[in-house]
Amino acid sequence: MDIAERYRELLDQLREHNHRYHVLDAPIIDDNTYDLLYRELVELEDAHPELVANVSPTQRVGGPVAEAFSPVTHRQRMFSLDNAMDLDDLAKWNERLIGSLGHQPSAYSCELKIDGLAVSLTYESGFLTRAATRGDGVVGEDVTANVRTIRSVPLELRGDAPPVMEVRGEIYLPVSEFDALNERQAEAGLQPYINPRNTAAGSVRQKDPSTTASRNLAVWIYQLGHIEGGPDLDTHTSQMQWIADLGLRVNPANATVSDFDEVVAYIADATEHRHDRDYETDGIVVKLDSLRDQQEAGFTARSPKWAIAFKLPPEEKTTRLDEIRINVGRTGAVTPYAVMEPVFVGGVTVTNATLHNEGEIHRKDVRPGDTVIVRRAGDVIPEVVGPVLELRPPGTEVWRMPTVCPYCGNPIVLPDGQAKAKCTGGFECPSRLREYLSHFVSRGAMDIDGMGYRTIDTLLELGLISDPADIYGLAVDDLLPLDGWKETSATNLIAAIDASRMRSLSKLVFALGIDHVGGTVAGLLASEFGSIDALASANADDIEQIDGIGPEIARSVEEWFADPGNNDMVGRLGRAGVSLEDDVVESSLAQNLVGTTVVITGAIEGFTRDSAREAVEQRGGKVTSSVSSRTSALIAGERAGSKLAKAESLGIPVLDGEEFVALLDGGAGMLDG
Ligand code: IVH
Repeated sequence: MDIAERYRELLDQLREHNHRYHVLDAPIIDDNTYDLLYRELVELEDAHPELVANVSPTQRVGGPVAEAFSPVTHRQRMFSLDNAMDLDDLAKWNERLIGSLGHQPSAYSCELKIDGLAVSLTYESGFLTRAATRGDGVVGEDVTANVRTIRSVPLELRGDAPPVMEVRGEIYLPVSEFDALNERQAEAGLQPYINPRNTAAGSVRQKDPSTTASRNLAVWIYQLGHIEGGPDLDTHTSQMQWIADLGLRVNPANATVSDFDEVVAYIADATEHRHDRDYETDGIVVKLDSLRDQQEAGFTARSPKWAIAFKLPPEEKTTRLDEIRINVGRTGAVTPYAVMEPVFVGGVTVTNATLHNEGEIHRKDVRPGDTVIVRRAGDVIPEVVGPVLELRPPGTEVWRMPTVCPYCGNPIVLPDGQAKAKCTGGFECPSRLREYLSHFVSRGAMDIDGMGYRTIDTLLELGLISDPADIYGLAVDDLLPLDGWKETSATNLIAAIDASRMRSLSKLVFALGIDHVGGTVAGLLASEFGSIDALASANADDIEQIDGIGPEIARSVEEWFADPGNNDMVGRLGRAGVSLEDDVVESSLAQNLVGTTVVITGAIEGFTRDSAREAVEQRGGKVTSSVSSRTSALIAGERAGSKLAKAESLGIPVLDGEEFVALLDGGAGMLDG
């Protein structure tokens, strides 16, 4: 075979593997094999520069740095869509169409509305010749050099491409890429990016294509535009099928349904699974599937009448940040939080949101008085993303951490090298004490049912308790005189307190509220030491020997037990009948998960989050909360969210509930290969 032939063969192979990997998400070779082919291509190109083809994967990056993006007049106007804010609106749209068509539509195409930026791609004789932004719908900008770096955009189509075809789609930044980008920003001490959509738009408008390339954007194609030649097709679905066959990336989550009830069912399903995907959606697009129906329905000045966007509740809104207040938590850590004009976002009304620490506030540059962007996606806690600088009123001031605790009057200090400030008031600080008690009785800790903030506040006010050990001295008669307490409720609470005396050591260690000791670390400490006495007499060096425990945690545990007040409290807990050791001698379970680190997400049938964790730990495995390259497997139950997407993007094995049980039974061997 001559060199030119081999070159063409390599190009074809690489294009196919690229298609399988980036478009179909179904590679058939591993990365190494791909790299070998790629390297051979590079060597050939180095030796024979005259061969280098414009569609070579080496030519994705390397376009010229742009001074400006030249204007492009779209061959067919890029319309936007009308919105339906709820199902009523959608039903009215449907009724209107039936009225004007004079019959029921034969089918609907239901599609996820991707929250990115619209792009028009032109292919001539199968080659990508132009990529343009939407602009005002009539004239957009030429962003070809940048869009060529997106690997799910084929530079050359497969099969029989027509002389000219233009397709429309949405460029987006995968959520996992957005998170990774912001991690890198934070490591470099730079401001975080606001959201995937803005970042995608900014990435497409970079002057230097290599910057765009580094962002790992992707595309979903959703519409055929101008076409010359090509097959005669009479539905949108068959057009999209044809487009997919040509190698363009069409979202497999889209579906063609035959009646309006099914449209409604699609919307319900898409809404439920909104956060399971590695991209953000802001609605569902419903289109008439028959092209003849579309033609009959026609257009308004702005949008087609044959399609509509059903809006999902926005996950970002702007509101006013009135004030930044601080909270002193169970360990004395001081956390600033935003107090805002109530705003409905991500399906709930938000007034408060944590701002983490002073450094974070300065990094985001949010100030009291600012209009801020608030975000709440899925069941994630609400977040202040950043200020809208254009709307900043004059005279705002940078917020500073108070030097004195507003709850107890003691100094607030910033320990060396730490991000979080601390109140030095110890349990004199009423805010800290209240949070500490509430943590002590919480579900993952001593799990005292019926003891919420309200009860704690009352008991504190009346001086009935002043530390956790006091809880075990309470009697029904103490509660009865209190407002709203009756015989049954009082008896129930005392019974719940009583039951908590026998909680496992791991829960007790967690309940103590030692800095840096969360549920997982508490489990490690409990299984290593077996009793509070043994733990209390261990020094930091002993503690640091445990796999998964670092010097900071070890020091914090040692310091906690060195405090006479803490020691005294533990003593009183013991005398009040709280079990300070685990009676179970050794776990009789096989230690088949030693060395395995799993992340658990979503609802797993037959387990609570705690019992799933315990099951792994009892077998020697570790449970962490975030997916990384070190994760051995993700246990994903129903409604698994962004962790699932992240695991998939990192190629980490994902196990469902049944496979989880098999893992517990069989061991980590099933995670190999
Ligand atoms: S169809 C004439 N389908 O939403 C039909 N648009 O306001 C034009 N979008 O500008 C659009 N996903 O950027 C269509 N599956 C989808 C879409 C989609 C996202 C965006 C697109 C468009 C905007 C409509």
